[in-house]
Amino acid sequence: MKEGTIYRSFTARDGRMVTLRAPRWGDLDDMLLFINSLVEEKAMIMMNEKQTRDAEIGWISTLLSNVEKDKIVAVVAEVDGRMVGSCEIVPKKGYLAHLGSLGISLLDGFREQGIGQEMMLEAEKQVRRLGVEIVDLEVFEANARAIHTYEKVGYKITGRIPDGVKYEGAYMDALIMTKRIA
Ligand SMILES: CC(C)(COP(=O)(O)OP(=O)(O)OC[C@H]1O[C@@H](n2cnc3c(N)ncnc32)[C@H](O)[C@@H]1OP(=O)(O)O)[C@@H](O)C(=O)NCCC(=O)NCCS
Repeated sequence: MKEGTIYRSFTARDGRMVTLRAPRWGDLDDMLLFINSLVEEKAMIMMNEKQTRDAEIGWISTLLSNVEKDKIVAVVAEVDGRMVGSCEIVPKKGYLAHLGSLGISLLDGFREQGIGQEMMLEAEKQVRRLGVEIVDLEVFEANARAIHTYEKVGYKITGRIPDGVKYEGAYMDALIMTKRIA
């Protein structure tokens, strides 16, 4: 998929116009702000360390190259010209090549407007082209909003890693959720 390709637009619950598209080089500064603000608020995501601009340049160049080669699917949400959310599905390899792992986050201030749901549905649609039939994801057990969103979109809890997360020094389970998309 070519960088910046527009998938579709829709109106969020608060009336703002949202465009779903592939990421592009021009997202670099928004992406840096995005990841560092998630780390700062201690969002229940895997990463807990802020990124430098250099590290982010490396990350975005790998991302864009993988998107262009159709090795992964990435959907970003743009509101008022700014990248405010990201959803990726990374296909696995070999005997697991029909599986893809999903990750998603939105900037604070853009959540609970239905944008997450739409990003996931769009990423699922795009990743079918890559032969993915089942999407899986991992979520912290205490992340009730994310779990609700995933269930709303059709994911079911199919596994659990006891103490799979150590968040701010406290253990909690990591839940595995899956959805058959094809
Ligand atoms: C998780 C996330 C991607 C979901 O995207 P979103 O745009 O907020 O999701 P939606 O607006 O489509 O849906 C949110 C749903 O959660 C519900 N919700 C909000 N707070 C909740 C809570 N504490 N418990 C249960 N459900 C909750 C909302 O009511 C809404 O459901 P509804 O449509 O049935 O009313 C987004 O909230 C986010 O980025 N969170 C911070 C980072 C994160 O947790 N990433 C996921 C890591 S696995």
